[in-house]
Amino acid sequence: MKSIFLKPSHLVLDRKALQNNIQFLKSRGKKGLKISSVIKGNAYGHGISTYLPLAEEAGIDHFSVFSASEAEIALQHRKNPQTKIMIMGMIRNDELEWAIENGVEFYLFDESRLQAAITTAKKHHKRALIHLQIETGMNRTGFEESRWEEIFQILKDASEFVSIEGLCTHYAGAESIANYYRIQEQDKQLKKAIEMATRILGFKPKIHASSSAAFLTHPDKHYDMVRIGIAQYGFWPSRETYMHHIKSVNPEAVDDPLKRVLTWKSEIMSIKQIKGGEFIGYGNVYLAGKDMTIATVPIGYTHGFGRNLTNTGYVLVNGVRCGVVGLVNMNMITINVSHIEGVKKGDEVVIIGRQKEDEITLASFGEMTNNLNYEVLTRLPSTIPRVVIN
Ligand SMILES: Cc1ncc(COP(=O)(O)O)c(C=O)c1O
Repeated sequence: MKSIFLKPSHLVLDRKALQNNIQFLKSRGKKGLKISSVIKGNAYGHGISTYLPLAEEAGIDHFSVFSASEAEIALQHRKNPQTKIMIMGMIRNDELEWAIENGVEFYLFDESRLQAAITTAKKHHKRALIHLQIETGMNRTGFEESRWEEIFQILKDASEFVSIEGLCTHYAGAESIANYYRIQEQDKQLKKAIEMATRILGFKPKIHASSSAAFLTHPDKHYDMVRIGIAQYGFWPSRETYMHHIKSVNPEAVDDPLKRVLTWKSEIMSIKQIKGGEFIGYGNVYLAGKDMTIATVPIGYTHGFGRNLTNTGYVLVNGVRCGVVGLVNMNMITINVSHIEGVKKGDEVVIIGRQKEDEITLASFGEMTNNLNYEVLTRLPSTIPRVVIN
């Protein structure tokens, strides 16, 4: 049953920002390069069900998820029946039947899944749509070089039941120049596999290997498709990647070409005057040094606003930074609003994102909480409503 109550906070997704990002990303690849939008981790916290149709509107027709359960959500929310869903990680052999029936593509990186895919496809008279993942040096999942020849041959013989939609790998950490040599070595391995696959299969499969960082910094490794996660949401994979853009692509640019899609907002729940010398909240964590105006905001560690932000975090009210005073509670924080003129109950509070002239960036929130930006995003609870603007 749909609730009639508004939740204490919500995530606002900016449609125009997303359209801008997709256009920018398209402009950085050759014509015809396919972008697969990576929406694992609940679309990096943006919410698969809200985000996927927005990305479709922006021109995306291929999505990458981690698991069969995410693929199911993606399938339910796609508007375009031609939109493709690809599972890059976890699918149990007994879930392959569902994937094959529904035309869901999936990675193939071990023998057991290979045999199960062939058997299931035979049984259902429908081809399995696979992306063959080869090991090139990431050492996570993928067929070892010693097995390539045999696997390509098995796939050739099973071509009635298995359609090779892609041959792929994943570069290990292109967001840092420290990994440059390793990635070059991986690419050499990939080229070797492409050559062998083409010879044995009799055609050259579509190739994909790059995520956001490799896409933005290694244009020679785009191949036929790229799997873009963090950049589509408006974030650079690392400072190095952004510096690369400024220095080598557009030294004149002042504006960041990527626009943040997400803003996390709440509101002031109540306001109180505190006398100097009083403690605020639990225990003796914060002692008011002078008379203060404080506000309570209905977000807490249950919503992902961690206890480590006690006395150190800040939010925006009226475009001005307000520090957290006292302990972060399960559902509430108290903030110092003494310096905000005319502050009142119901005023908007921004936890991550822009308000008027100031912004709490994901990076600064990540630094405050000692988390990677990917981590902050994917930990945003799925229970916070996602609202679309623009
Ligand atoms: C296999 C694979 N491809 C693509 C991506 C997207 O990476 P990014 O968000 O850095 O673009 C990931 C993310 O971890 C991944 O595991």
